[in-house]
Amino acid sequence: MIQENIIQFETVFGTAPDFLAQAPGRLEILGNHTDYNEGFVLSMAVDRRTQISFKKIEGNRCQVFSPMMSDGVREFELDAISTPLPSKDWTNYVRGIVTELQKRDHKVGAFQALITSDIPLSAGMSSSASLEMALVTGIDTLFGFDLSTQEKAQVGQACENDYIGANTGLMDQLTSLSGKDGEMVVSEYRNISISHTPLPSELSFVVINSNVAHDLSQEYNERRQQCEDAVATIQKEHPEVQALRDVNLELLEAAKPSLAEYDHKRALHVVGENDRVHQAQSFLSAADYDAFGKLLFASHESSRLNFENSCPELDTLVEIAAASPLCLGARLSGGGFGGISIHLVRSTDAEAYCDHAIAAYTKATGKDTTAFICRSAQGAGIESYASASL
Ligand code: GLA
Repeated sequence: MIQENIIQFETVFGTAPDFLAQAPGRLEILGNHTDYNEGFVLSMAVDRRTQISFKKIEGNRCQVFSPMMSDGVREFELDAISTPLPSKDWTNYVRGIVTELQKRDHKVGAFQALITSDIPLSAGMSSSASLEMALVTGIDTLFGFDLSTQEKAQVGQACENDYIGANTGLMDQLTSLSGKDGEMVVSEYRNISISHTPLPSELSFVVINSNVAHDLSQEYNERRQQCEDAVATIQKEHPEVQALRDVNLELLEAAKPSLAEYDHKRALHVVGENDRVHQAQSFLSAADYDAFGKLLFASHESSRLNFENSCPELDTLVEIAAASPLCLGARLSGGGFGGISIHLVRSTDAEAYCDHAIAAYTKATGKDTTAFICRSAQGAGIESYASASL
């Protein structure tokens, strides 16, 4: 993939790139909608990624090209991008990242970039965050800003929140930057801290796409508001509560009579997800993989009933998992409302399970789907300094 990207750069721009930046997509394993509630997430960077070859050029005009978009070379002036283009134009991600860097007083110069990716789009695997992190990583290297991991992630989040209009948290960007081969990422969103926990080689994650495109800008923002409303109500009696991170089940149940029904259900999901992230780490240390798998099923059930961010196709995929002796646990992953489901299996069963699940899904729904095994992978970086002779 690296070489293909570089060859395409040379064909499109007629010159060799300076280097190639890459950033992986991610799977959210547990900790659904906990990041913007200052909570905990178990996630992993995966072996599917966005790759961008970059070249610094003179002047004020950037040129970007993606063979996936078939809209030719797109250009923009560095001083004329403060407002996004209408109609969800894909170059808004590039414009947004540059704008957010400029807002932080980083002097971004002109560049050419060629973008490729093998992450399914609009599927909940963070294709956008991985594009943002490959862009930030590349631009940081090109102009020598020396940004920290946290700053890079925050530039991506600001691009989503302020430029694209999705009020998302920091987890996608942080996971894409902090992934480690063979490890999962454990992250915490009050102090923004990261640690890693091994993904045992006996275990694999199978990803199965519901093929329902998820659009996070509307319902996501609504759910986030409901979480904030729950906190505002709880704070009246418990001023020490800053975020749902500070709420446990006992406190939530005591506050139930004063909470709007929806706010209570949303909070119940988030409080349960934080607990499940902690329990998962204990079960993984004890090599109790059955118990780990059950947490995934419990998470999905809570999404379905409490957070209401599932959909019939995702529920069918999880029902197929629950009925199969090959699967230890399954759930939706990411924002929800469509996108992918993740299925925990023993590595020796992974191929057989993919075949089984695809056939069972087609039988149940009459629709096709795709399944693939995801391995945990290294986070974003500069992959290769290229030369014309590559
Ligand atoms: C999306 C957002 C993340 C996170 C998840 C849900 O992926 O971008 O910040 O909130 O949904 O856990």
